[in-house]
Amino acid sequence: MNSISIDSERRIGDVSPLLFGSFIEHLGRCVYGGIYQEKSPFSDAQGFRTDVLAAVRELAPTILRWPGGNFVSGYHWMDGVGPKELRPCVKNIAWGSCEPNHFGTDEYIDYCRLTDAEPFICTNMGTGTIEEARNWVEYCNAPTGTYFADLRAKHGHEQPFGVKYWGIGNEMNGPWQIGQLDALDYAKKAREAAKLMKWADPSIRTIVAGDCTDDPCCVDWDRTLLDYMAHETDCISIHMYARNWENNFAQFMATSQRIAHKINLTNALIDTAMHKTGKKERIKICFDEWNVFYREDSTANRGNLIEERYNFEDALVCAEFLNAFVNHCDTLETANQSALVNAVATIRTREDGLLLQTTFYPFYLFSHFVGKEAFDALVQCGSYDTPIYEGVPDLDVSVSRNGRDWSVFVVNKTQLPQSTSIRFFHEQIAPVGEVYEFYHDDMKAENTFEQPNVVGLQKRSLSGLSSCFSYEFPPHSLTLLRLEEIVQ
Ligand code: AHR
Repeated sequence: MNSISIDSERRIGDVSPLLFGSFIEHLGRCVYGGIYQEKSPFSDAQGFRTDVLAAVRELAPTILRWPGGNFVSGYHWMDGVGPKELRPCVKNIAWGSCEPNHFGTDEYIDYCRLTDAEPFICTNMGTGTIEEARNWVEYCNAPTGTYFADLRAKHGHEQPFGVKYWGIGNEMNGPWQIGQLDALDYAKKAREAAKLMKWADPSIRTIVAGDCTDDPCCVDWDRTLLDYMAHETDCISIHMYARNWENNFAQFMATSQRIAHKINLTNALIDTAMHKTGKKERIKICFDEWNVFYREDSTANRGNLIEERYNFEDALVCAEFLNAFVNHCDTLETANQSALVNAVATIRTREDGLLLQTTFYPFYLFSHFVGKEAFDALVQCGSYDTPIYEGVPDLDVSVSRNGRDWSVFVVNKTQLPQSTSIRFFHEQIAPVGEVYEFYHDDMKAENTFEQPNVVGLQKRSLSGLSSCFSYEFPPHSLTLLRLEEIVQ
């Protein structure tokens, strides 16, 4: 029998709510026709789709990265401020569409306020200049009295927006990126941009674009970048998209190993750079793009809307990402699922309504029920090998606590039920609890507009619990056990 042993003295760290964030990119119908749609019967006076807003509030992402992605490397933020009728309609160079600029900085901040999400702006290091990035910080964060801050006030926002998180470019190592740079050229530009941006507001947190591939040489990019500017950045980004090209469930579920490897590798490079440069404050990781994404080709066709349709197994892989964020909460600062609506997204829209994809549900569970502190559980279970990874554990687990409420998230990666004993070393557990089960017998099951509730959550109460109890996790499933600690 498997076991999950929970020792509250083995604390990993505090779990930042910002690990459950999302991403809004000007890509396909993510913004226009997604969160924002002028003249839709669903839209409010500002143009925000109220049905989407309600779904986003239910999903509860805590931080929203914007405006890209590849899009940002051709975006000039000044095009998207001021009276809408005066804003230019320009080519969206990255994705081939037309960008009317009706959703710009002020609308984005309004959307963050409406969804109770922290803003996170990524700047243009492709066609953009370091001065333009710096001016954007002034527009958002400076008190009135200088040109760009006064411009914000003129546009109706007297008070600074207080945007804390600032990305310094997106995926700058990729040949698909507008204005791709080699590592040293990017490092030089990013260092100067970060310097100017911090001069505009010293309280901001900057995120440099780490290598977004798993290529063996990705370490060279990150090493060059961090060695050059460790002192000028607070965070480095990781992007990762999981794929099931071989239609092999076991291999797909081994994504857990790929995620952990990339985080560990990036932390090793951070340690090395901090050692070399003498930087004391830890550089954190922003896992600021992640998802399953492989059916819709983003590079072959620039007109592609990339409206990936998600099935049940995709959602289990999303749960693995989320478990990994909890288990690495001590070195992660944010994580952002890519993306929120329509393009590679949890929510899909049509003119007449919306659909919650399978991937909505794991995110919902984590954003609502992960506790404030994470613990390093000892998981003893079977394992399997894939062509890439040896010893992939059958169970993927995270354990967290909020006061006396414990959350145990378990992904069963196998096609068999897994009987498991759950043991607490120090706490007494109340006899009753709750379980949320995310299970479908067909791993390819999807929610569609015609049948929107094929895949969802089941909630039940549990009884007969104690500090050591057995639970059988269904095959290929995500389970959340909600347990309460009794005060002794
Ligand atoms: O999410 C789609 C694209 O994937 C983003 O624009 C880019 O950053 C990544 O390559």
